[in-house]
Amino acid sequence: MLAGKHILLIIGGGIAAYKSLDLIRRLQDQGARVTPVLTKAGEEFVTPLSVSALAGSEVHRDLFDLTKEAEMGHIQLSRSADLLVVAPATADLMAKMANGHANDLASTLLLATDTPVLLAPAMNVRMWEHPATQRNLATLLQDGVSCVGPNEGAMACGEYGPGRMAEVPEIISAVAARLSDGPLRGKRVLVTSGPTHEPIDPVRYIANRSSGAQGTALARALTALGAEVVFITGPASVAPPAGVEVVAVETAQEMSEAVDAALPADAAVFAAAVADWRVTSASDRKLKKSKDGLPVMEFAENPDILKRVAHMTKGRPALVVGFAAETDDVVENATAKRLRKGCDWIVANDVSPSTGIMGGSENAVVLISDDGAEEWPRMGKDAVARQIAERVAAALA
Ligand code: C5P
Repeated sequence: MLAGKHILLIIGGGIAAYKSLDLIRRLQDQGARVTPVLTKAGEEFVTPLSVSALAGSEVHRDLFDLTKEAEMGHIQLSRSADLLVVAPATADLMAKMANGHANDLASTLLLATDTPVLLAPAMNVRMWEHPATQRNLATLLQDGVSCVGPNEGAMACGEYGPGRMAEVPEIISAVAARLSDGPLRGKRVLVTSGPTHEPIDPVRYIANRSSGAQGTALARALTALGAEVVFITGPASVAPPAGVEVVAVETAQEMSEAVDAALPADAAVFAAAVADWRVTSASDRKLKKSKDGLPVMEFAENPDILKRVAHMTKGRPALVVGFAAETDDVVENATAKRLRKGCDWIVANDVSPSTGIMGGSENAVVLISDDGAEEWPRMGKDAVARQIAERVAAALA
């Protein structure tokens, strides 16, 4: 995904710097070359030796290094990369950037560059929320700098809130999106995928046969066209794709909450096979066989995530796509479903066991939109995904 790309990674001083060691490896896994720069404060958290050993190259630390000035000055260092990534981006580094300071190697590189910059901020909640940091952030965004995170959660300092550095896969996804020149560059797309598990008791659950293969292929295809993908997946049997932000959930209710947290998005593709019902009488203890007869289960309807998002009056993605797994009268049922759900497109398929589609590697779909039903020939799920991704790109253009 990042083959041949050169990333200059500036590691600032924060506890999250340890994640940047993993970031180096994961960027390399994607084919990128990483040149690390470590700030003085960064050195307090990770050692130059571990950074250079992982990067497989020297770590740059000093502004005034005469040998290097002769060989390759800091201006060249900042411009030879395809992208500058600052992770963790501390409040101090952001303040320097926003105000054009250049008093160490990192800030000088950031001021001297004409290369795109991506920040992964990490700091204490109060520092992040401080008007000064928010002012600096607004300035940086206006200057064309991109930002991934920070996330909300428990922090190393013991407080809770926004300030945690984005996770490594989220940063990789943002790097890929920023470097892509595909038609979905700059677009955020939400994809739900896989089955959901609805607990009966701590060891038993209700599930379905969805493998998550089509949703995973879709996320991959959308990423390949440059989209920043948030991939919300139930317990699927295929691994999530690289370079997307993965949110793993179990139940339909959790999926619904994760979708809300992931919005806004330019497009939302609901490929998950969400359980229609959950067991309201789910037990905290394992149900036992008893002489008194069989257990009785009570059900409640799960939230219809697609329908809810498609009917949003505020913040509805510009394109909402649903899937319809049918076993008979595919076009007729899916056409009615599109109207009922209020989505723009329905990707319908025949999942009768004889087709081998559910859990298999191929799919035969009908795309239902305002323009009617368009039948696509049977092909691999990857090929279906690529075609849908291209249509999404055309629709958002
Ligand atoms: O109603 P049905 O389950 O056939 O609709 C399928 C479509 O609706 C899929 O796109 C699926 O992801 C979505 N859906 C949902 N939430 C539900 C049920 C289905 O988002 N509770």
